[in-house]
Parts: sequence; C-alpha cells; structure tokens
Amino acid sequence: MHALNAPVRDWAELRVWIVGASSGIGAALAQEALQAGARVALSARRAERLQTVAGGHPQALIAAFDILDQQAWGRHHDAICEQFGGIDLIVFCAADYRPERSWDIKADRAAHTLATNLGSVYTGLATVLPAMLERGSGGIAIIASVAGYFGLPNASVYGPSKAALINLAELLYVDLRPRGLNVYLINPGFVQTPLTAKNDFTMPALQTPQAAARAIRDGITAGRFEIHFPRRFTLALKLVRWLPYRLRFPLISRLVRT
Ligand SMILES: NC(=O)c1ccc[n+]([C@@H]2O[C@H](COP(=O)([O-])OP(=O)(O)OC[C@H]3O[C@@H](n4cnc5c(N)ncnc54)[C@H](OP(=O)(O)O)[C@@H]3O)[C@@H](O)[C@H]2O)c1
Repeated sequence: MHALNAPVRDWAELRVWIVGASSGIGAALAQEALQAGARVALSARRAERLQTVAGGHPQALIAAFDILDQQAWGRHHDAICEQFGGIDLIVFCAADYRPERSWDIKADRAAHTLATNLGSVYTGLATVLPAMLERGSGGIAIIASVAGYFGLPNASVYGPSKAALINLAELLYVDLRPRGLNVYLINPGFVQTPLTAKNDFTMPALQTPQAAARAIRDGITAGRFEIHFPRRFTLALKLVRWLPYRLRFPLISRLVRT
C-alpha cells in the first residue's frame, strides 16, 4: 500500500515548528527532530523550559508565546520564517486537560480547554497555511488522542476537543493533499507526561515521551496519515469504536468504574 503522505527522505532538510514543546511529547519530539538534523522552532509559554529542552542546540529557535494570543501567532511565524526561510512542518502539540465527569463541567474551564486544544489550531492553520499553499509544500501534524475515538466520561471536555481534531485532520487531508501538503493525524495512547500525571487511575500500555516521539518521527518519515501508538492498545480501542452502542456503553461504564 502506498503512503498517504510524501515520505521524508532526510529530516536534516526539514524546518519544523513544534507548538507545545516545553514538556512531555512535544519536548521529546523537539529533541528527536534536532537529533535527526532538523531545524526546530520550539513554542510554549515557559521560555526557560523551552531553553532547557533545546539545550543550547545551534539548530533550535525559541519562540515563547501564549497560543491563546491570536496576534502573537503572526509575529512568531514571521520571526521563524525570517530565521529559517520557511516552515516545512508544524506540529500542534499544546493541550489543556483536566479529568472531569459531566457533573464537574464549568463553563469557563470548558471554554479555556476548547480554545487551547481546538481554537489555537485554527489560529495556527490560518497563520501557516497561506505561505504553504503558495509554495505548494509543507506539513501539518495534529496531535489528537485516542480519547477522541469515542465518548469517555472522564474526559468531558478534552475528549470532544480531540474528536474535533480528528475530524479536522481528516478534512484537511482531503483539502490539502492535492495541493502538495502533507497532513498527519497523531493519536497517542497513554504517555507519561505532566498532562497524564493528573490521572488517578492505572493507565494501560503507558509509554515514555521518548517512545512516543520516536513513533511520531517514524510515522512522519514513512508518510503515514494516522500515526497511532502503541498499536496493540490503539487497535483494541479502534475495535471498541466499531461496537454497537448497546455493547459499547456497558463496556465503557465498566472501564470507567475500574
Ligand atoms: N500524555 C498522553 O497520554 C497523551 C495521550 C494522547 C494525546 N496527548 C496529546 O499530546 C499532546 C502533548 O501532550 P503531553 O502529554 O506531552 O502534555 P504536556 O506535557 O502537558 O504538554 C503540553 C504542552 O502544551 C503547552 N501549552 C499548554 N497551553 C498552552 C498555551 N496557552 N500556550 C502555549 N503553550 C501551551 C505547554 O507549555 P506551557 O505550559 O509552557 O505553555 C506544554 O508544552 C497534547 O495535544 C495531548 O492532548 C497526550
């Protein structure tokens, strides 16, 4: 089967912008990409954490900002393009997560999570797409989650934001691939990061951020559209997604109770 995206021949040719690079998967991916020879712009709010992740690497560029600040996107895009001469791949990695049941929902917190996880991706797309479309090349990688495969009671706001990102990546692929762009949908299982440290349950098939970063790099190198891992876990969840509701709902209730 042929790859849905153009395979990457050499990461040393890539100029990568990782948004959400100060910790967890984004930080590990930034280091992985730098090691592979890419030029990497690292964004998040905490500039000092970004400096630590970059470790003084000569190919790293720090672009610290709050992704909820719409004006800041343009400023940092211009600065990165001036330094690198363009952007070949943007990875949307930033997220806000709080385990919450439906009775815990607060409107202001929900709006913040949706703006961070989903709204910022639209701002980012509106920022990077014009230049990529004009050039007829570039890559958009969206980190969604297996939490977006189906409704999970513990992820009352986070889950729907990730389901929307899956939908968005699908439509972007159909729109942008014929125009020369690559679109990647990344659906990790559980990864040990500050985000999942908030979970008070045992996370099955938990991975390190470094293993996640390697899986993402391998998937992008191979030109896959959906990059999901660890596969034994994610394939099982894909099967659950296909179950009829009358079987799926009791199964999910049992899983959430344990
Ligand atoms: N960990 C998992 O098990 C797992 C599973 C599936 C999917 N994912 C997804 O993978 C991605 C990375 O998650 P992670 O687990 O690595 O989380 P993490 O360690 O908490 O990292 C989240 C990143 O987002 C940045 N961020 C959050 N709000 C921001 C804002 N307003 N402006 C700029 N940056 C902001 C944070 O930086 P600052 O705080 O410095 O701003 C940080 O760099 C997320 O999209 C997450 O949903 C994670």
